[in-house]
Amino acid sequence: METFYNEPFTNFALEHNRLAFMDALAEVKLQWGRKYALLVNGQRFIGEAVLPSFSPADHSVVVGYAAQADCGQVERAIESAAEAFTAWKGVKPSIRARILYRAAALMRRRKHRFSAWLVYEGGKTWPEADAETAEAIDFLNYYAREAQRLLEVRTPLVPYPGEDNEWTYLPLGVGAVISPWNFPLAIMAGMTAAAIVCGNTVVLKPASAAPVIAAVFVDLLREAGLPDGIVQFVPGAGNVIGDVLAEHPLIRFINFTGSMEVGLKLNENANMRRPGQRWIKRVVAELGGKDGIVVDRSASITAAAEAIVQSAFGYGGQKCSACSRAIIHEAVHDDVVEEIVRLTGQLRVGDPALFETDVGPLIDRSAFEKTAAYVEIGRNEGTLLCGGGGDGSIGYYAEPTVIAGVSSGSRIAQEEIFGPLLAVVKAGDFEEALAIANDTPYGLTGALFSQERMHLERARETFHVGNLYLNRKCTGALVGVHPFGGFNLSGTDSKAGGPDYLLQFLQPKVVSERL
Ligand code: NAD
Ligand code: ALA
Repeated sequence: METFYNEPFTNFALEHNRLAFMDALAEVKLQWGRKYALLVNGQRFIGEAVLPSFSPADHSVVVGYAAQADCGQVERAIESAAEAFTAWKGVKPSIRARILYRAAALMRRRKHRFSAWLVYEGGKTWPEADAETAEAIDFLNYYAREAQRLLEVRTPLVPYPGEDNEWTYLPLGVGAVISPWNFPLAIMAGMTAAAIVCGNTVVLKPASAAPVIAAVFVDLLREAGLPDGIVQFVPGAGNVIGDVLAEHPLIRFINFTGSMEVGLKLNENANMRRPGQRWIKRVVAELGGKDGIVVDRSASITAAAEAIVQSAFGYGGQKCSACSRAIIHEAVHDDVVEEIVRLTGQLRVGDPALFETDVGPLIDRSAFEKTAAYVEIGRNEGTLLCGGGGDGSIGYYAEPTVIAGVSSGSRIAQEEIFGPLLAVVKAGDFEEALAIANDTPYGLTGALFSQERMHLERARETFHVGNLYLNRKCTGALVGVHPFGGFNLSGTDSKAGGPDYLLQFLQPKVVSERL
């Protein structure tokens, strides 16, 4: 097994890379408006119900139409996944892994085309799209290796005289994979790949705002050799088919990434035993965040401000990991805020298909309106220093916005907005700053900028987040390097891209034989 390494990001400073990316954008544009089918038991199906997937950059553009599964089709998909499980669980892990390696290789070859879909359907800028495609390739390669490590090597147990004791892992069964729109390729691909490489089969429901990239990925898996029935593809409205997925007695586990509200509801639904159900469903749920960056009095002002701006406004703040709270020691508060406002003012908001754009559009009208509503709330909770406007006439463009003088208990410092709005909270000292950082029901990412060793150590112990970053931004976790997942209402902390992740989709069995 070769060593895992992260897929490198594309260097867009080089002209040939920019030209290649523009070619991919042109090529993918020619594919706009196609219809994408459901996939149930290897059969494609497009009925009357199809949903347009609009470009967030220009809502007159339909990038594609996704067939919508009804409840009956989802039930058939679950049953067919259960049938497929009986054979797939017995396929050698190295063969299952090989399909993932092949899919990763194919995706690498078409890297810019995948990224182009993310630009058009997700509204991602070139570097954000490129990083997401790289992450998807990483998940495929990493989980393939992890499956081989866990499933092909016998786990040693304490020797016991006269007995042969063996520990093995078995797959669980049929899983529902329900993915979000903000990483519609990487997270969807990672959640799916991890489950199937362990020998499970899945029913995949992609996010309604970005189903096309998921359909393109499912085609890639088939091209890579995935047999029929292992991944059933059922785009559809979460509030229509979500309950079927959560409640069906043949569903053994749910792998969900999305909002806290939906995740908690799914968890509740899944917890109740249904007629015919023979197990306790396992729910992996990775949810929202209200992530804070703390700036201590000893911090580098420029480094802290740069990291805050990148973390707050990368992909328009539409990351679970985004910095939505800057918590700044009063001794450096004014200088850091001045630098944040200066850097924010330099960001170019616009069409993500243009190389020079720094911040693209929000995903849809509801995100645009939600952000605007929070800007209004924020005007009453603090002082608006920059941004605050937006233009939803063509695409959903919201200005990066900074609101200072906010108290920790205010709504813009407590609620997940998922847009380009940064709340700045002033802290009297380092301990108060840490307390403010932890004053949230979430616990996903956080960062501290400080030059004081004992403050860095204190944060390691008490900053209660699943992913803590010291003296760097709080977004951009790399597979295998920064396994990712949050505490408290940010989820089950499954640590995607980490060495424990596959265990969520396996059950260990111990066999003891008296010799
Ligand atoms: P969402 O909860 O609205 O939707 C997530 C998925 O659930 C979608 O596929 C949606 O169609 C489906 N869904 C909606 N209602 C459902 C229901 N009643 N039953 C079953 N499924 C249903 O989230 P979103 O808007 O797609 O994504 C943004 C959210 O995801 C943010 O809160 C963000 O913080 C979170 N997120 C978390 C992580 C993480 O790793 N912790 C990563 C990415 C996004
Ligand atoms: N894993 C993504 C990040 O770290 C959400 O930004």
